Amino acid sequence: MTPHSRQRVSITNSATAVAHANIALVKYWGKRTEALNLPAVGSISLTLDALKTETTVSFDGALQKDSLVLNGKPASEASLKRVSDFLNHIGGINRSSASIVSTNNFPTAAGLASSASGFAALALSATSALNLDLEDVELSKLARIGSGSAARSIYGGFVEMKCGNTDDGNGDYAISLFEQDYWDVRMLIAITSSDEKTIGSTEGMNRTANTSPFYSAWVQSQAADLDEMRLALKAKDFQKVGELTEHSCFKMHGLALSARPPLLYWNAATTETYQIIKELRTSGIPAYVTMDAGPQVKIFCLPEAQLPIRQALKTVKGIKSILECRPGPAVALKTLENV
Ligand code: PMV
Repeated sequence: MTPHSRQRVSITNSATAVAHANIALVKYWGKRTEALNLPAVGSISLTLDALKTETTVSFDGALQKDSLVLNGKPASEASLKRVSDFLNHIGGINRSSASIVSTNNFPTAAGLASSASGFAALALSATSALNLDLEDVELSKLARIGSGSAARSIYGGFVEMKCGNTDDGNGDYAISLFEQDYWDVRMLIAITSSDEKTIGSTEGMNRTANTSPFYSAWVQSQAADLDEMRLALKAKDFQKVGELTEHSCFKMHGLALSARPPLLYWNAATTETYQIIKELRTSGIPAYVTMDAGPQVKIFCLPEAQLPIRQALKTVKGIKSILECRPGPAVALKTLENV
């Protein structure tokens, strides 16, 4: 990528992109190295239509420094630094300063993968504003530098993140497995808290890798889960996909619980929801849960199971709301302006 000098870019180069969050069915947890966000394991996800981030990046030679407005408010210094570092990767340290305005239509940092849609939208808007036309795989590698899961939000539908084995990250990118309209499944998201999470995924992953006695087993057993999931998705075998989804989720959380000090991302409503979904399954309604670095419960189901699931979850007092998600689209450019 060519560095842009302050002198050359004195006009405003602005672009807006929209990206959707994704939920991992086979989880990513652990980094090979932190610098380029290289994952220790591959992962498989579903991009979700209802959770989206819209981001506008405007590089402007007249600005003195970067600014970031997140959901209508100035972002924290830590968030601004993360975004500025990311833009330096694209435009070089002598680039023009940028104004970044980003809006999520869902709670930020509550385990709803806002960093995934956020950095996917930022990767496309920033590269477009700088007139860089990247292939999907290159855009995915770039988004990965912002957040590992963002590499998957470049694509719609079912997506696989590859785990490479070189230090330059050339093998660490996502690919599309099956597009948005491949399979009409649902992910219901039971919101049990809208608080920001206390331990971010990078800190949680590092703590786990450094202290869990189960970490190497986690890394070694991932390839088999990925192989099985690919086959189950290909066969549209709902039960198999659901079982593998739950297995990977509980394996990840079991691993996190075995860190010192332990990482427990759930609250009481999280476990209560899981128990109810398990009971529903024994009564013949197929549905499976998955959780990330937060207490929300994502329920993987077929369209016809939605009503009985909603009905059964009415007894869980800790559920604040339930969002319905369908498979979502790839990242897309909304506007591009060179003034
Ligand atoms: O890429 P990050 O830092 O958002 O980490 C994602 C970690 C999990 O959401 C827990 C799992 C996953 O694969 O998305």
